[in-house]
Amino acid sequence: MSAHPSPTKRLTLGDLAAARDAGTPIVMVTAYDFPSAQIVEAAGVDVVLVGDSAAMTVLGYDSTVPVTVDEMLMLTRAVRRGLERPLLVGDLPFGSYEASDAEAIATAQRFVKDAGVDLVKIERGGTSVDRARALVSAGIPVVGHVGLTPQTAASLGGYRAQGRRADAALAVIEDALALQDAGCAMLVVEAVPAEVTAALMPLLSIPVIGIGAGAGTDGQVLVFHDLLGIHAGGAARFVRRYADLRGSAIAGVVAYADEVRSGAYPAPEHTYAMAEGEAARLAELLAAR
Ligand code: KIV
Repeated sequence: MSAHPSPTKRLTLGDLAAARDAGTPIVMVTAYDFPSAQIVEAAGVDVVLVGDSAAMTVLGYDSTVPVTVDEMLMLTRAVRRGLERPLLVGDLPFGSYEASDAEAIATAQRFVKDAGVDLVKIERGGTSVDRARALVSAGIPVVGHVGLTPQTAASLGGYRAQGRRADAALAVIEDALALQDAGCAMLVVEAVPAEVTAALMPLLSIPVIGIGAGAGTDGQVLVFHDLLGIHAGGAARFVRRYADLRGSAIAGVVAYADEVRSGAYPAPEHTYAMAEGEAARLAELLAAR
């Protein structure tokens, strides 16, 4: 959906469905604060996810598991303030929706009321299918997430591609179909072989967004910090880096530090001056003290 009619009209689920039907790729990306929201807005993306990947990318946890609802809400509100056109998806964190339909609805309502999200995302099939159905019944649009589901990566054998064997691939496909039947408006499919995506796509009628699921989905999502090269260390196989912001940022701070140490910064143009004659007057006042 690169060509959009009005830069400030908020997209709707209908727009995404139309893009899917027209074969127009849907661009989704994560954002976690006001400046990253303004950047992805200016870049013209279609869907913004405040992912619980925030736990690792901006809060420094070693997995997505510890992040709390309150932490996610603070980040999501900041993103909301920076967005106009894209749809906003809030990720319900681990432990905030699994126990019961009532818990899922209560948590999701906070994301809708306090942070202004358009949809919430939950992970896995299984009991999450029931949670998705309950949320949809409560009037809250839901994004499902199958394949590699980081909140429960431990039970999947770690952060690794899912569905490499036929029986495991069938389980991913069955989860996806169950989430569609439960009323999900969209589906994220993470880290599955392209053959699994190819088998899945003809069975689904909702927009499917891939991350590490090959080129056969209706759109793609990447983590903001991954695609811009903001953090140190390696990235998953499916990440392409489109910038090296970490390198640029370190170079900028090193240049600043060098100039502070050499006295080159601040220069006269960065410095305020008193009004005409006021420095002499100040000297008189000090002398008379
Ligand atoms: O939390 C997240 O950023 C996600 C995306 C990787 C889809 O769930």
